[in-house]
Amino acid sequence: MSSEVLDRSLVLEAVRVTEIAAIAAWELAGRGDEKAADQAAVDAMRTALNDLDIDGEIVIGEGERDEAPMLYIGEKVGKGGKTKIDIALDPLEGTTLTAKAMANALAVMAWAPKGTLLNAPDTYMDKIACGPGLPAGVIDLDKSPADNVRAIAKAKGVEPSDVTVCVLDRPRHAEIIASLRSVGARVYLITDGDVAGVINTADPTTGVDLYVGQGGAPEGVLACAALKCVGGQFQGRLVFRNNDERNRAARVGITDLDKKYDLHEMVRADAIFAATGVTSGALLDGVTFKDGFVHTHTLVMNSATRTVREVRMKRPV
Ligand code: FBP
Repeated sequence: MSSEVLDRSLVLEAVRVTEIAAIAAWELAGRGDEKAADQAAVDAMRTALNDLDIDGEIVIGEGERDEAPMLYIGEKVGKGGKTKIDIALDPLEGTTLTAKAMANALAVMAWAPKGTLLNAPDTYMDKIACGPGLPAGVIDLDKSPADNVRAIAKAKGVEPSDVTVCVLDRPRHAEIIASLRSVGARVYLITDGDVAGVINTADPTTGVDLYVGQGGAPEGVLACAALKCVGGQFQGRLVFRNNDERNRAARVGITDLDKKYDLHEMVRADAIFAATGVTSGALLDGVTFKDGFVHTHTLVMNSATRTVREVRMKRPV
C-alpha cells in the first residue's frame, strides 16, 4: 500500500480547497454562531471539491448521511476521472474558536489513495503523539502519562520538567494532567483543536514534545495524515460511551473495538495534507482582508515526497 502515490499536482488543488473553506468560515468569525460558520466552510469546501477532476469519497466528514446533508461519510465528490481518492476533511476544525474569534481555527483536509484511510467512526479516541527523530515505540498509550514523559525525556536527553505536553483542557483529562504534573512536565492546555495539537509535536518552534488525551477519532485520522508527511509517532484507541457509538463503528466495518492503532494503520499509504488558518494560531496565520485583497496562509504536505510547503495566497476580494 505504501507504494501508492497521488499525483503531486493534486497538492495545489488541495490548497485551493482549504483556502476557500477558511475564507468562508472567517466571514463568520466572532459572530457567535458555530453552526453558521461550520455550514459556510462546508458549503465552500464541497463546491470546491466538486469542481475537481477527482473520483473522491468522503471517509472522514461531517457525520453519517442521516445527520449531515453535505460532506457526509460515503458521499462522492469531484467530477470523476481516474484519480480515486479517500478524503478526510474538517472544513472548520474549531467551530467554537471561530464563533468566538479565538486563535487556532483551521480548515483541514487529507487525501490518500482509495481504501487507505481508517474509516474512523464519529466517536472519541484516546490519543498519544510525538514528533520525528525519536526511537520507535518511545510512546505507548498503555503506559501512564508520567511514564511517557519520562520516556520522552530520556530519549531527548533532558529532564521530565523540560518536557512540554499539549492536552485539551477538559474535565475528563484531570487525571492525565495530574499524572503529567507529578513528574514536573509543563502542560500546555488548549481549548479546542487537537489536529493542530498533534501537529505541534512535529514543529520544533512550538516547543511541544508530546500530545496526550481524548479527542475526536476523525480528527485523529487528519492528524495522522499530517504526521505521515513530517514523521512522528501516534497511537490511538477508539472510545465508546454507548451502543449507538459501537453501532457507528460497526457501520464503518470496525470489529475489534479495543484495537490500538498506530500512525500507519490510520493512514496506510502516502497522503497529502492541507490546512489553512481561519484564525491566527501557533501553526498558521488566519485569514485577513486588507486593501481590497483577501490573504490566506496554508500548510500543505505530501508524504510521498516529504515536501512541506507554506503557501501564502492573495487575491482581490
Ligand atoms: P469542532 O471543530 O468540531 O468543534 O472540534 C473541535 C475539537 O476541539 C477537536 O479538535 C477535538 O478533537 C474535539 O473537538 C474534542 O471534543 P470535545 O469538545 O467534545 O471535547
